[in-house]
Amino acid sequence: MEDLEIRLASVADYDAVVELSRATYEDKADEDHDYIPNRFHGWLSERKRAVFVAEMDEKIVGLRSYVVVNGDQSSACDVEKIHPKFRKQGLQIKMIEANREYIRKNYPNVTRELFYAPKKFYTQRQELFADQVLFKQDIIAYHIDLENLDVERLNEVATRLALEVRPCTREEFVEEILSIAFKIFPSEVFTLDGMALEASRANTGAMVRDGDRFLVDHNEDDSEPFKSYSHGRISPRNKSLHWECCVYTRSHFLFQVHLLGQVRCASEVLADHKNTVIVIHFLSDSRLVSYGRKLLEGLLGFKPCDRLNMKQEYVHKESLG
Ligand SMILES: CC(C)(COP(=O)(O)OP(=O)(O)OC[C@H]1O[C@@H](n2cnc3c(N)ncnc32)[C@H](O)[C@@H]1OP(=O)(O)O)[C@@H](O)C(=O)NCCC(=O)NCCS
Repeated sequence: MEDLEIRLASVADYDAVVELSRATYEDKADEDHDYIPNRFHGWLSERKRAVFVAEMDEKIVGLRSYVVVNGDQSSACDVEKIHPKFRKQGLQIKMIEANREYIRKNYPNVTRELFYAPKKFYTQRQELFADQVLFKQDIIAYHIDLENLDVERLNEVATRLALEVRPCTREEFVEEILSIAFKIFPSEVFTLDGMALEASRANTGAMVRDGDRFLVDHNEDDSEPFKSYSHGRISPRNKSLHWECCVYTRSHFLFQVHLLGQVRCASEVLADHKNTVIVIHFLSDSRLVSYGRKLLEGLLGFKPCDRLNMKQEYVHKESLG
């Protein structure tokens, strides 16, 4: 590793970074859902974001990016990739250490980092960074054939469920949902589209983007607090378009109603696009998985997106102490 250089990325690294990202997929069909080609340039101009690459013999072999959030007290990492030929040599740890040194210099109040990962980490990583799994999420994912979407069937199923969700405004999200964050969000952490952040008002700008859709359960009595929430966002990928959404509820009825609501949102927002996939994340629960499948596969006849369907992911917290 003598030739290893860990440095900030530049526009000129685009091709090499995309090539590295491509190399990290064991199955080439997964590349269709890669978000690196769509996000890299935007990341470079994003405030409080750093994009690091690891270079060895003039080849980019690692990528890591995070954004400083929560009033400069936390960082949220949304990509960590090492080229398969350079794995199991502690390169990832070297990148984390370089990143954290940079954070300590530039944002001394950052004490922790939140991020998604496909698994629990090994002991060394837990010992080095006090790595802790906060919770696990399930994912279900379906192709939506918008041209042939059976809206009548969708409405019929929604009517049968006899519960309703309604859109909520950004103001309601900030004033009401965030004020009961401890009830709605697991470990008070908001997750969407690869990011995990504290569900706090300081993170509103990072949680809410133009075009996002928010749904809450509909109460006849407005004085009752909300019991559930879902948040959807368009997410362009290499060769597909995702409607990424996260549903926050433990009730299977509310879960199904939110799913239908998010399918509606996706069909409105993505109306003119082909090759679209709805990707639904939720707190790990096998009952909710089967209710979601019954609804989307059984009743609506959606085809699963095998690359993403029925996967799980972990939300981690690490210390920068
Ligand atoms: C996750 C990832 C970044 C890890 O990169 P890495 O540089 O191989 O990480 P490390 O070297 O620190 O350790 C990884 C493994 O190697 C082992 N290892 C580390 N040093 C080792 C050594 N000297 N000898 C043998 N094994 C070693 C670790 O115990 C760990 O084992 P595990 O996979 O069984 O848990 C890489 O596998 C990757 O790019 N995966 C695809 C993308 C991804 O999943 N990213 C994470 C979320 S965005």
